[in-house]
Amino acid sequence: MASYPIWHPYTQMQTAGMPVKITRGERELLYDENGNTYIDAISSWWVNLHGHAHPVIARAIYEQALKLEQVIFAGFTHEPAVDYANMLLRHIPFHQKVFYTDNGSTAVEVALKMALQYWKNKGLNKTKIICFRDAYHGDTFGSMSVSARGVFTNPYQELLFEVCFIDTPTAKNTPAVMEQLRGHLQRGNVAAFIFEPLVLGSAGMLMYPPEVLDEMIRLTRESEALSIADEVFTGFGRTGKFLATDYCMHRPDIVCLSKGITGGFIPFAVTTCTLQVYEAFLSHEKTKMLFHGHSYSGNPLGCAAAIASLRLFEEENTLEKIAAIMEAHRQFATRINSMHGVAEVRQTGTILAIELENKHGKGYLNPIGERLRNYALSKGVLLRPLGNVAYVLPPYCIAPHNLQRVYDCITGFLQSES
Ligand SMILES: Cc1ncc(COP(=O)(O)O)c(C=O)c1O
Repeated sequence: MASYPIWHPYTQMQTAGMPVKITRGERELLYDENGNTYIDAISSWWVNLHGHAHPVIARAIYEQALKLEQVIFAGFTHEPAVDYANMLLRHIPFHQKVFYTDNGSTAVEVALKMALQYWKNKGLNKTKIICFRDAYHGDTFGSMSVSARGVFTNPYQELLFEVCFIDTPTAKNTPAVMEQLRGHLQRGNVAAFIFEPLVLGSAGMLMYPPEVLDEMIRLTRESEALSIADEVFTGFGRTGKFLATDYCMHRPDIVCLSKGITGGFIPFAVTTCTLQVYEAFLSHEKTKMLFHGHSYSGNPLGCAAAIASLRLFEEENTLEKIAAIMEAHRQFATRINSMHGVAEVRQTGTILAIELENKHGKGYLNPIGERLRNYALSKGVLLRPLGNVAYVLPPYCIAPHNLQRVYDCITGFLQSES
Protein backbone atom coordinates (compact mmCIF):
# COMPACT_ATOMS: atom_id res chain seq x y z
CA MET A 1 0.00 0.00 0.00
CA ALA A 2 3.09 2.25 -0.16
CA SER A 3 1.74 4.34 -3.02
CA TYR A 4 -1.79 4.47 -1.58
CA PRO A 5 -2.24 8.00 -0.18
CA ILE A 6 -4.88 7.45 2.51
CA TRP A 7 -4.65 6.61 6.23
CA HIS A 8 -7.94 4.91 7.17
CA PRO A 9 -9.74 5.10 10.54
CA TYR A 10 -9.52 2.17 12.97
CA THR A 11 -7.22 0.35 10.53
CA GLN A 12 -3.78 -1.19 11.03
CA MET A 13 -2.42 -0.03 7.68
CA GLN A 14 0.53 -2.44 7.80
CA THR A 15 -1.58 -5.58 7.77
CA ALA A 16 -4.91 -4.48 6.31
CA GLY A 17 -5.43 -5.40 2.67
CA MET A 18 -6.41 -2.79 0.11
CA PRO A 19 -9.86 -1.44 1.00
CA VAL A 20 -12.77 -2.38 -1.22
CA LYS A 21 -13.47 0.43 -3.69
CA ILE A 22 -17.18 1.21 -3.68
CA THR A 23 -18.53 3.01 -6.70
CA ARG A 24 -22.22 3.18 -5.96
CA GLY A 25 -24.95 2.37 -3.45
CA GLU A 26 -28.66 1.74 -3.69
CA ARG A 27 -31.02 0.78 -0.88
CA GLU A 28 -29.16 -1.74 1.35
CA LEU A 29 -26.68 -2.61 -1.41
CA LEU A 30 -23.16 -1.37 -2.11
CA TYR A 31 -21.48 -2.01 -5.49
CA ASP A 32 -17.71 -2.22 -5.93
CA GLU A 33 -15.58 -1.35 -8.95
CA ASN A 34 -15.59 -5.00 -10.10
CA GLY A 35 -19.37 -5.27 -10.06
CA ASN A 36 -19.58 -7.21 -6.76
CA THR A 37 -22.46 -6.32 -4.46
CA TYR A 38 -22.48 -6.23 -0.67
CA ILE A 39 -25.48 -6.12 1.64
CA ASP A 40 -24.77 -3.36 4.12
CA ALA A 41 -25.74 -5.22 7.30
CA ILE A 42 -24.27 -2.55 9.60
CA SER A 43 -25.69 0.57 7.96
CA SER A 44 -22.15 1.75 7.16
CA TRP A 45 -21.00 2.32 10.76
CA TRP A 46 -24.60 2.74 11.96
CA VAL A 47 -25.48 5.87 9.96
CA ASN A 48 -27.80 4.75 7.18
CA LEU A 49 -31.55 4.66 7.80
CA HIS A 50 -33.44 4.67 4.51
CA GLY A 51 -30.92 3.13 2.11
CA HIS A 52 -27.91 4.36 0.16
CA ALA A 53 -28.16 7.26 -2.28
CA HIS A 54 -31.83 7.75 -1.45
CA PRO A 55 -33.11 10.05 -4.21
CA VAL A 56 -35.28 12.17 -1.89
CA ILE A 57 -32.36 13.09 0.37
CA ALA A 58 -29.98 13.48 -2.60
CA ARG A 59 -32.42 15.91 -4.26
CA ALA A 60 -32.94 17.88 -1.05
CA ILE A 61 -29.18 18.41 -0.74
CA TYR A 62 -28.87 19.38 -4.41
CA GLU A 63 -31.71 21.88 -4.22
CA GLN A 64 -30.34 23.41 -1.03
CA ALA A 65 -26.84 23.65 -2.56
CA LEU A 66 -28.23 25.74 -5.40
CA LYS A 67 -29.70 28.21 -2.86
CA LEU A 68 -27.21 28.38 0.02
CA GLU A 69 -24.41 25.93 0.71
CA GLN A 70 -22.98 27.45 3.91
CA VAL A 71 -23.10 30.59 6.01
CA ILE A 72 -21.39 31.53 9.26
CA PHE A 73 -23.74 30.43 12.05
CA ALA A 74 -22.97 33.16 14.57
CA GLY A 75 -24.99 36.28 13.88
CA PHE A 76 -26.73 34.54 10.94
CA THR A 77 -29.37 31.86 10.62
CA HIS A 78 -31.34 30.25 7.81
CA GLU A 79 -34.63 28.52 7.16
CA PRO A 80 -33.41 24.89 7.01
CA ALA A 81 -31.76 25.26 10.44
CA VAL A 82 -34.90 26.72 12.02
CA ASP A 83 -37.19 24.22 10.27
CA TYR A 84 -35.12 21.23 11.33
CA ALA A 85 -34.85 22.40 14.93
CA ASN A 86 -38.66 22.78 15.12
CA MET A 87 -39.24 19.45 13.40
CA LEU A 88 -36.82 17.56 15.63
CA LEU A 89 -38.12 19.11 18.84
CA ARG A 90 -41.58 17.73 18.02
CA HIS A 91 -39.97 14.29 18.53
CA ILE A 92 -38.19 15.43 21.72
CA PRO A 93 -41.02 17.40 23.36
CA PHE A 94 -39.22 17.61 26.71
CA HIS A 95 -36.47 19.75 25.11
CA GLN A 96 -36.66 23.30 23.80
CA LYS A 97 -33.24 24.13 22.27
CA VAL A 98 -31.00 22.63 19.58
CA PHE A 99 -27.24 23.20 19.26
CA TYR A 100 -25.70 22.16 15.92
CA THR A 101 -22.34 20.44 15.40
CA ASP A 102 -21.03 17.98 12.84
CA ASN A 103 -20.33 14.55 14.33
CA GLY A 104 -21.13 12.36 17.31
CA SER A 105 -17.96 13.13 19.26
CA THR A 106 -18.53 16.87 19.05
CA ALA A 107 -22.19 16.45 20.00
CA VAL A 108 -20.86 14.80 23.17
CA GLU A 109 -18.21 17.52 23.71
CA VAL A 110 -20.98 20.12 23.59
CA ALA A 111 -23.12 18.15 26.02
CA LEU A 112 -20.24 17.92 28.51
CA LYS A 113 -19.38 21.60 28.15
CA MET A 114 -23.06 22.54 28.55
CA ALA A 115 -23.29 20.50 31.75
CA LEU A 116 -20.03 21.75 33.24
CA GLN A 117 -20.67 25.41 32.42
CA TYR A 118 -24.29 25.15 33.54
CA TRP A 119 -23.10 24.70 37.14
CA LYS A 120 -20.25 27.19 36.76
CA ASN A 121 -22.72 29.82 35.55
CA LYS A 122 -24.86 29.10 38.58
CA GLY A 123 -21.85 29.60 40.83
CA LEU A 124 -21.75 25.98 42.01
CA ASN A 125 -18.69 23.77 42.15
CA LYS A 126 -19.90 20.65 40.36
CA THR A 127 -17.21 19.30 38.09
CA LYS A 128 -17.44 15.51 38.17
CA ILE A 129 -18.88 13.39 35.38
CA ILE A 130 -20.24 9.90 36.02
CA CYS A 131 -20.09 7.35 33.20
CA PHE A 132 -20.19 3.63 32.52
CA ARG A 133 -16.93 1.71 32.79
CA ASP A 134 -17.43 0.25 29.27
CA ALA A 135 -18.76 3.42 27.64
CA TYR A 136 -17.81 4.72 24.23
CA HIS A 137 -18.70 8.35 23.52
CA GLY A 138 -16.28 9.27 20.74
CA ASP A 139 -12.67 9.95 19.81
CA THR A 140 -12.06 13.57 20.87
CA PHE A 141 -10.36 14.11 24.22
CA GLY A 142 -13.48 15.02 26.20
CA SER A 143 -15.49 12.17 24.75
CA MET A 144 -12.56 9.75 25.29
CA SER A 145 -12.31 10.93 28.91
CA VAL A 146 -15.88 9.82 29.59
CA SER A 147 -15.29 6.51 27.79
CA ALA A 148 -13.78 3.19 28.89
CA ARG A 149 -10.12 3.11 29.71
CA GLY A 150 -9.16 0.35 27.32
CA VAL A 151 -7.88 -0.50 23.90
CA PHE A 152 -9.30 2.65 22.23
CA THR A 153 -7.92 5.08 24.81
CA ASN A 154 -4.73 3.43 26.17
CA PRO A 155 -2.24 5.55 24.20
CA TYR A 156 -3.77 8.79 25.54
CA GLN A 157 -4.65 7.58 29.03
CA GLU A 158 -2.46 10.00 31.01
CA LEU A 159 -4.07 13.02 29.35
CA LEU A 160 -7.71 12.11 29.88
CA PHE A 161 -9.56 13.91 32.66
CA GLU A 162 -10.66 11.96 35.70
CA VAL A 163 -14.25 10.72 35.84
CA CYS A 164 -16.36 8.60 38.20
CA PHE A 165 -16.87 5.19 36.63
CA ILE A 166 -19.75 2.92 37.53
CA ASP A 167 -20.13 -0.65 36.29
CA THR A 168 -22.22 -1.28 33.22
CA PRO A 169 -25.51 -2.84 34.41
CA THR A 170 -25.99 -6.57 33.85
CA ALA A 171 -28.70 -9.00 34.94
CA LYS A 172 -26.70 -9.69 38.13
CA ASN A 173 -25.13 -6.44 39.29
CA THR A 174 -27.95 -3.86 39.11
CA PRO A 175 -28.33 -3.22 42.86
CA ALA A 176 -24.55 -2.77 43.17
CA VAL A 177 -24.49 -0.37 40.21
CA MET A 178 -27.29 1.70 41.76
CA GLU A 179 -25.26 1.86 44.96
CA GLN A 180 -22.19 3.05 43.02
CA LEU A 181 -24.28 5.72 41.32
CA ARG A 182 -25.83 6.85 44.59
CA GLY A 183 -22.40 6.94 46.23
CA HIS A 184 -20.97 9.27 43.60
CA LEU A 185 -24.08 11.46 43.50
CA GLN A 186 -24.12 11.85 47.29
CA ARG A 187 -20.83 13.75 47.20
CA GLY A 188 -22.73 16.71 45.74
CA ASN A 189 -20.02 17.59 43.20
CA VAL A 190 -21.43 15.77 40.16
CA ALA A 191 -22.16 17.90 37.10
CA ALA A 192 -23.66 15.12 35.01
CA PHE A 193 -24.19 11.43 34.40
CA ILE A 194 -23.57 10.56 30.73
CA PHE A 195 -24.76 7.25 29.31
CA GLU A 196 -25.46 5.31 26.14
CA PRO A 197 -29.12 4.43 26.67
CA LEU A 198 -29.97 0.69 26.60
CA VAL A 199 -27.08 -0.33 24.30
CA LEU A 200 -23.37 0.31 24.75
CA GLY A 201 -22.48 -0.01 21.08
CA SER A 202 -18.72 -0.02 20.67
CA ALA A 203 -18.22 -1.94 23.93
CA GLY A 204 -19.70 -4.94 22.11
CA MET A 205 -23.42 -4.15 22.05
CA LEU A 206 -23.84 -4.56 25.82
CA MET A 207 -27.52 -4.18 26.67
CA TYR A 208 -29.48 -3.27 29.80
CA PRO A 209 -33.20 -2.70 30.34
CA PRO A 210 -35.14 0.60 30.35
CA GLU A 211 -36.28 0.17 34.00
CA VAL A 212 -32.66 0.31 35.12
CA LEU A 213 -31.94 3.41 33.05
CA ASP A 214 -35.16 5.04 34.23
CA GLU A 215 -34.15 4.61 37.86
CA MET A 216 -30.66 5.93 37.12
CA ILE A 217 -32.03 9.09 35.50
CA ARG A 218 -34.40 9.51 38.45
CA LEU A 219 -31.60 9.19 40.98
CA THR A 220 -29.47 11.65 39.03
CA ARG A 221 -32.26 14.22 38.94
CA GLU A 222 -33.03 13.69 42.62
CA SER A 223 -29.39 14.55 43.41
CA GLU A 224 -29.50 17.71 41.31
CA ALA A 225 -27.06 16.52 38.67
CA LEU A 226 -27.78 16.64 34.94
CA SER A 227 -28.31 13.54 32.84
CA ILE A 228 -26.91 13.31 29.31
CA ALA A 229 -28.28 10.69 26.92
CA ASP A 230 -25.76 9.95 24.19
CA GLU A 231 -28.23 8.80 21.53
CA VAL A 232 -25.67 9.18 18.73
CA PHE A 233 -26.07 5.47 17.95
CA THR A 234 -29.48 4.69 19.45
CA GLY A 235 -31.42 7.66 18.05
CA PHE A 236 -33.74 7.63 15.03
CA GLY A 237 -35.44 4.33 15.72
CA ARG A 238 -32.50 1.95 16.20
CA THR A 239 -33.96 0.55 19.43
CA GLY A 240 -37.56 0.47 18.17
CA LYS A 241 -38.62 3.92 19.39
CA PHE A 242 -37.48 7.30 18.11
CA LEU A 243 -35.08 7.65 21.05
CA ALA A 244 -33.92 4.83 23.30
CA THR A 245 -34.84 7.05 26.26
CA ASP A 246 -38.43 7.07 24.95
CA TYR A 247 -38.70 3.74 26.80
CA CYS A 248 -38.16 5.66 30.08
CA MET A 249 -40.52 7.81 32.13
CA HIS A 250 -37.75 10.07 33.36
CA ARG A 251 -36.17 12.16 30.66
CA PRO A 252 -32.58 13.30 30.19
CA ASP A 253 -31.67 17.01 30.44
CA ILE A 254 -29.40 16.81 27.39
CA VAL A 255 -29.53 14.55 24.30
CA CYS A 256 -26.78 13.98 21.69
CA LEU A 257 -27.77 12.84 18.19
CA SER A 258 -25.73 12.21 15.05
CA LYS A 259 -25.11 9.12 12.84
CA GLY A 260 -28.62 8.53 11.39
CA ILE A 261 -29.54 12.21 11.56
CA THR A 262 -29.05 12.87 7.83
CA GLY A 263 -29.97 9.32 6.83
CA GLY A 264 -26.22 8.74 6.45
CA PHE A 265 -25.56 11.47 3.86
CA ILE A 266 -23.67 14.29 5.57
CA PRO A 267 -21.59 14.63 8.77
CA PHE A 268 -24.00 16.39 11.10
CA ALA A 269 -25.06 16.36 14.75
CA VAL A 270 -27.14 18.10 17.38
CA THR A 271 -27.13 18.45 21.13
CA THR A 272 -30.60 19.27 22.46
CA CYS A 273 -31.46 20.49 25.94
CA THR A 274 -34.16 21.76 28.27
CA LEU A 275 -35.02 25.42 28.70
CA GLN A 276 -33.60 25.14 32.21
CA VAL A 277 -30.13 24.26 30.88
CA TYR A 278 -30.30 26.95 28.18
CA GLU A 279 -31.44 29.67 30.56
CA ALA A 280 -28.38 29.22 32.78
CA PHE A 281 -26.33 30.67 29.91
CA LEU A 282 -28.46 33.83 29.54
CA SER A 283 -26.78 36.87 31.02
CA HIS A 284 -25.55 40.36 30.25
CA GLU A 285 -22.06 38.95 30.74
CA LYS A 286 -20.49 37.47 27.61
CA THR A 287 -18.41 35.16 29.79
CA LYS A 288 -21.55 33.13 30.49
CA MET A 289 -22.24 32.19 26.86
CA LEU A 290 -21.42 28.70 25.62
CA PHE A 291 -17.91 28.86 24.21
CA HIS A 292 -18.33 26.35 21.44
CA GLY A 293 -18.77 26.42 17.66
CA HIS A 294 -17.49 24.87 14.46
CA SER A 295 -16.84 26.32 11.03
CA TYR A 296 -19.66 24.16 9.70
CA SER A 297 -22.11 24.50 12.62
CA GLY A 298 -25.65 24.44 11.25
CA ASN A 299 -24.48 23.69 7.71
CA PRO A 300 -27.51 24.21 5.41
CA LEU A 301 -26.78 21.04 3.40
CA GLY A 302 -26.73 19.01 6.62
CA CYS A 303 -30.01 20.64 7.70
CA ALA A 304 -31.61 19.93 4.31
CA ALA A 305 -30.52 16.28 4.46
CA ALA A 306 -31.73 16.00 8.07
CA ILE A 307 -35.15 17.46 7.16
CA ALA A 308 -35.52 15.09 4.20
CA SER A 309 -34.44 12.10 6.30
CA LEU A 310 -36.81 12.94 9.15
CA ARG A 311 -39.67 13.43 6.67
CA LEU A 312 -38.99 9.97 5.24
CA PHE A 313 -38.91 8.63 8.79
CA GLU A 314 -42.31 10.19 9.49
CA GLU A 315 -44.01 9.47 6.18
CA GLU A 316 -42.71 6.10 4.98
CA ASN A 317 -44.02 3.76 7.69
CA THR A 318 -40.53 3.58 9.13
CA LEU A 319 -41.71 2.28 12.50
CA GLU A 320 -43.42 -0.61 10.69
CA LYS A 321 -40.21 -1.42 8.82
CA ILE A 322 -38.36 -1.30 12.13
CA ALA A 323 -40.93 -3.63 13.71
CA ALA A 324 -40.49 -6.12 10.84
CA ILE A 325 -36.69 -6.17 11.36
CA MET A 326 -37.21 -6.61 15.10
CA GLU A 327 -39.44 -9.63 14.50
CA ALA A 328 -37.04 -11.17 11.96
CA HIS A 329 -34.16 -10.68 14.44
CA ARG A 330 -36.21 -12.30 17.20
CA GLN A 331 -36.87 -15.39 15.11
CA PHE A 332 -33.25 -15.67 14.00
CA ALA A 333 -32.05 -15.18 17.57
CA THR A 334 -34.07 -18.17 18.80
CA ARG A 335 -32.71 -20.28 15.92
CA ILE A 336 -29.02 -19.60 16.56
CA ASN A 337 -29.10 -19.26 20.33
CA SER A 338 -28.15 -22.89 20.86
CA MET A 339 -25.78 -23.20 17.89
CA HIS A 340 -22.24 -24.35 18.49
CA GLY A 341 -19.91 -21.37 18.80
CA VAL A 342 -22.57 -18.96 20.11
CA ALA A 343 -21.99 -17.71 23.67
CA GLU A 344 -24.95 -15.32 23.82
CA VAL A 345 -27.47 -13.59 21.57
CA ARG A 346 -28.77 -10.12 22.53
CA GLN A 347 -31.34 -7.90 20.90
CA THR A 348 -32.63 -4.40 21.44
CA GLY A 349 -34.86 -3.16 18.64
CA THR A 350 -33.13 -3.46 15.26
CA ILE A 351 -29.79 -4.21 16.91
CA LEU A 352 -28.93 -7.92 17.03
CA ALA A 353 -25.66 -8.95 18.68
CA ILE A 354 -24.17 -12.43 18.63
CA GLU A 355 -21.34 -13.08 21.02
CA LEU A 356 -19.04 -15.71 19.54
CA GLU A 357 -17.27 -18.23 21.68
CA ASN A 358 -13.64 -19.01 20.96
CA LYS A 359 -10.36 -19.62 22.67
CA HIS A 360 -9.28 -15.96 22.58
CA GLY A 361 -12.02 -14.93 25.01
CA LYS A 362 -13.81 -11.57 24.78
CA GLY A 363 -12.63 -8.28 23.40
CA TYR A 364 -12.16 -6.00 20.41
CA LEU A 365 -8.87 -7.58 19.36
CA ASN A 366 -10.24 -11.13 19.22
CA PRO A 367 -9.26 -12.37 15.72
CA ILE A 368 -12.53 -14.21 15.13
CA GLY A 369 -14.10 -10.88 14.19
CA GLU A 370 -11.74 -10.38 11.29
CA ARG A 371 -12.31 -13.96 10.11
CA LEU A 372 -16.06 -13.37 10.10
CA ARG A 373 -15.64 -10.02 8.33
CA ASN A 374 -13.60 -11.64 5.55
CA TYR A 375 -15.95 -14.61 5.29
CA ALA A 376 -18.94 -12.25 5.04
CA LEU A 377 -17.27 -10.14 2.35
CA SER A 378 -16.71 -13.29 0.29
CA LYS A 379 -20.46 -13.95 0.58
CA GLY A 380 -21.41 -10.41 -0.41
CA VAL A 381 -22.28 -9.19 3.09
CA LEU A 382 -20.76 -6.23 4.93
CA LEU A 383 -20.23 -7.07 8.61
CA ARG A 384 -17.70 -5.49 10.97
CA PRO A 385 -17.71 -7.45 14.23
CA LEU A 386 -16.44 -5.81 17.40
CA GLY A 387 -13.90 -8.54 18.17
CA ASN A 388 -15.90 -11.58 19.22
CA VAL A 389 -19.24 -9.76 18.95
CA ALA A 390 -20.94 -9.92 15.58
CA TYR A 391 -23.89 -7.65 15.08
CA VAL A 392 -26.54 -6.87 12.50
CA LEU A 393 -28.23 -3.47 12.23
CA PRO A 394 -29.31 -2.91 8.67
CA PRO A 395 -30.86 0.12 6.97
CA TYR A 396 -34.59 0.04 7.72
CA CYS A 397 -35.42 -0.48 4.03
CA ILE A 398 -33.65 -3.85 3.83
CA ALA A 399 -35.57 -6.43 1.77
CA PRO A 400 -36.54 -9.55 3.78
CA HIS A 401 -34.62 -11.87 1.42
CA ASN A 402 -31.44 -9.84 1.89
CA LEU A 403 -31.83 -9.85 5.67
CA GLN A 404 -32.18 -13.63 5.39
CA ARG A 405 -28.92 -13.74 3.38
CA VAL A 406 -27.19 -11.88 6.23
CA TYR A 407 -28.49 -14.45 8.74
CA ASP A 408 -27.45 -17.33 6.43
CA CYS A 409 -23.99 -15.82 6.17
CA ILE A 410 -23.62 -15.85 9.97
CA THR A 411 -24.86 -19.43 10.34
CA GLY A 412 -22.59 -20.46 7.44
CA PHE A 413 -19.63 -18.95 9.27
CA LEU A 414 -20.53 -20.67 12.53
CA GLN A 415 -20.74 -24.03 10.71
CA SER A 416 -17.42 -23.39 8.96
CA GLU A 417 -15.74 -22.72 12.32
CA SER A 418 -17.09 -25.77 14.15
C1 LIG B 1 -22.70 6.28 21.44
C2 LIG B 1 -21.73 7.00 20.55
N1 LIG B 1 -21.39 8.26 20.83
C3 LIG B 1 -20.53 8.96 20.09
C4 LIG B 1 -19.95 8.39 18.96
C5 LIG B 1 -18.99 9.17 18.14
O1 LIG B 1 -19.57 9.54 16.92
P1 LIG B 1 -18.64 9.98 15.71
O2 LIG B 1 -17.98 8.74 15.21
O3 LIG B 1 -19.60 10.56 14.72
O4 LIG B 1 -17.67 10.99 16.23
C6 LIG B 1 -20.28 7.07 18.62
C7 LIG B 1 -19.67 6.42 17.45
O5 LIG B 1 -19.72 5.25 17.25
C8 LIG B 1 -21.18 6.35 19.45
O6 LIG B 1 -21.51 5.08 19.19
